[in-house]
Amino acid sequence: MRIASRAIWRRIVATTVVVAATLLSDTLANAQNETSAWLDNPLWRGSQHALFLVRSLDESPMEQTAVRELNDGILHLYGIRGADIDNFENQIVIGTADEVRQAYPGTNVPANLSHDSYWIYRLETSRPRHGARVLIAGGDQRGALYGAFALLRYISENNSPPRQAIRESPAMPIRWVDEWDNANGTVERGYAGKSIFFDDGRVRDDLTDVQQYARLLASVGINGCNVNNVNGATPFLTPEMLQGLKRIADAMRPWGVRLAISVDIASPQKIGGLKTFDPLDAEVKAWWRAKADEIYKLIPDFAGFTVKADSEGQAGPASYGRSPADAANTLAEALAPHGGVVLYRAFVYNNHLDYNDLKADRARAAYDIFHPLDGKFAPNVIVQIKYGPIDFQAEEPVSPLFAGLHKTNEAMEVQITQEYTGQQRHLVYLAPLWKEKLDFDLRADNKSTPVQQIIEGKTFNRPQGGMVGVADVGRDGWLGAPLAMANLYAFGRLAWDPNLTAQQIAEEWTRQTISTDQQVVTTVDQILLHSWQTYVDYTGFLGTQTLTDITGSHYGPNIESSERNGWGQWHRDDAQGIGMDRTVATGTGFIGQYPPEVAKMYESLATCPDSLLLFFHHVPWTYKLHTGKTIIQYVYDSHYQGVDEVRQMVDEWKSLDGKIDPALFSDELARLEYQVGHAIVWRDAIVQYFLKESGIPDAQGRAGHFPGRMEAEAARLTGYTVIDVKPWEDASGGKAVTCAEKSCNAEWTYTGAAGRFDIATQYFDLPGGVAKFALDVNGKQVAAWDANATFPSRRPNGDTSTRYTVRGIDLKPGDVLCVEGTPDGADPAALDYIELTPAAK
Ligand code: GCU
Repeated sequence: MRIASRAIWRRIVATTVVVAATLLSDTLANAQNETSAWLDNPLWRGSQHALFLVRSLDESPMEQTAVRELNDGILHLYGIRGADIDNFENQIVIGTADEVRQAYPGTNVPANLSHDSYWIYRLETSRPRHGARVLIAGGDQRGALYGAFALLRYISENNSPPRQAIRESPAMPIRWVDEWDNANGTVERGYAGKSIFFDDGRVRDDLTDVQQYARLLASVGINGCNVNNVNGATPFLTPEMLQGLKRIADAMRPWGVRLAISVDIASPQKIGGLKTFDPLDAEVKAWWRAKADEIYKLIPDFAGFTVKADSEGQAGPASYGRSPADAANTLAEALAPHGGVVLYRAFVYNNHLDYNDLKADRARAAYDIFHPLDGKFAPNVIVQIKYGPIDFQAEEPVSPLFAGLHKTNEAMEVQITQEYTGQQRHLVYLAPLWKEKLDFDLRADNKSTPVQQIIEGKTFNRPQGGMVGVADVGRDGWLGAPLAMANLYAFGRLAWDPNLTAQQIAEEWTRQTISTDQQVVTTVDQILLHSWQTYVDYTGFLGTQTLTDITGSHYGPNIESSERNGWGQWHRDDAQGIGMDRTVATGTGFIGQYPPEVAKMYESLATCPDSLLLFFHHVPWTYKLHTGKTIIQYVYDSHYQGVDEVRQMVDEWKSLDGKIDPALFSDELARLEYQVGHAIVWRDAIVQYFLKESGIPDAQGRAGHFPGRMEAEAARLTGYTVIDVKPWEDASGGKAVTCAEKSCNAEWTYTGAAGRFDIATQYFDLPGGVAKFALDVNGKQVAAWDANATFPSRRPNGDTSTRYTVRGIDLKPGDVLCVEGTPDGADPAALDYIELTPAAK
């Protein structure tokens, strides 16, 4: 292919670095850099290289970013620096479709490359000495940037540029992350430290983290970032804050990530000084128009507003008898002239429901409120719907509202931050959960209507739609746990292409982040892919929704906290049975919100899937599942199995020793070992609670029997006093001991047969001090450790219960075991039990 003209080449912006693609030689395990995550991956060294000069056809910031990313990325992959560009004729050329067409008139750049799309093409040249050309043409500049990242991803997985053309378009236009950051620098439901955006009431001076974050987002095709909490958004529209927000927008712009913010619908009154915030009031409308104008003067590519209104204490249009459509449209009208959109959240419900009303049902709320408004929303409004009808539960059905809006744009909201799935202390890869929702066929109008096609806008012919992931990153390694980054990665990839499988994404991520070694990839993927079901197994069951501390941390078990309050996350358990009757026939009628075929499936006990049975039906403990197992036996079995599954994750991870970065290996091993201990806390809480409640024994004799366990309250205590733990199920036998002295002892005499044991000490690690523990056998210390973890509760309970295991201790009858606890500050060195298990041979 001939080059168009010298003039065009003069316009081409050459860069100073030469990069390389190669034939595979050896693979190298790599360390995940905390900042660059999957983008920092030295894969192949000492291999043969075909070298490339990277050029862009324009000096626009995004194309420049694309050039830099490819240069840096490939250099990093192959560990090459400082080659002399004149020696290399192979080139990667980046531009928009028009630019590429102009520079290479003979190439078949697709005519209709849409926004954010790209085409990667290897130009074969008839003159071998001329070198190879890899062209990246973007539907726009952002598309060109995405093409650069896609090429990098391709090379890092396949070790050479593609031979066939690659053309990709995002499945949906809205691909946003939401951050629930507060102006004071805290992050609601964030588990990775303080905000990267805000501190002390204002935007941070140093926005390097924001740039790095935008880079990660762009690399997986995320094009919008809503930076502040949906709760308490009032301060974000003040002129001072808008100046700061402009700086954030500037920092993200080179990566094509547009800024959005959450707004408080009462702002015209709260900060505008108006008498009202009635969305239909003319002055209120004018206020929003002026505010939008002010924003766009500072941030010309501002993406739009996210709104949480009339929900969990946030002000809303209901105060004036107005609807969500009235509120959304007022904002939409202000943003429309500038091209902005409104993401109006369907997470609207009454949190003062009457528990005694058997027809009351929080799950109904979104559909009841939004379905009647279908067709009433402005074209630039998108209704943002959580994947399930309740709230990011580990197991709940898909929201029926997706099928209930035919004339309204829709986006699906998921949570990347693991609020209800172990808060990043537990490894839970969420792509399988999201896929289950995306793939679910709602059968609207008795036709195939998978959720993914609805939010893509295909099913009901909507111009807008997408996915929003609540990420809540922080300054502590983005998500605070290395493997949790697979969730951020997976979110972006699924929003780009929901047809990718959870496994494909896990493999991509692992290859880029941990190693390309096939055994490593297989092992890591296995751990990731089973982790969600494992978490479900040792926490909730059969669609009960969460059994966590619902009015507190959302972390450890607290079964009754969901019941007898207005929040509506009820499971309605008693001595006879469990489950919410949501049938049309006898229950809340929620099932009737689904299209008929799906409603029919859920309504009947015969066809309702076991995994969601208790979400839809109230049944006795002795009710038999499709497997023939009773509910209560399933509770016992799944929880014991869940713990075994985490143990298996530990073993699988251990098989990676020496094959991956040692720091990552030991960090994740410690996390998984903690997870085993906390899975046991969950298992024991659920099992002992429902054993007591149902009065039905475990057919396998495990529930209520703990061989090798010695309770602290049954020990000879010096200084320690016995307490009732609340909720009782969070401690073994409901009791623990706590120390108000300088130090305290709990002592037991071993009476079993002689042998070698692992000894686990189950204790409570409270914040506000670092208590010390030591374990002695016959007066000789065998282990000592500090209680220095950070858990989300100030009391001894299922949030703070944790364990320390010392392995391979020889014991004989008459040996004296002693735990010495030394309190510190607010941490009273509370202790639950010790447990002996035969040591592995
Ligand atoms: C959950 C979460 C809240 C959050 C809310 C929301 O309920 O616990 O912190 O504000 O979701 O999505 O608005």
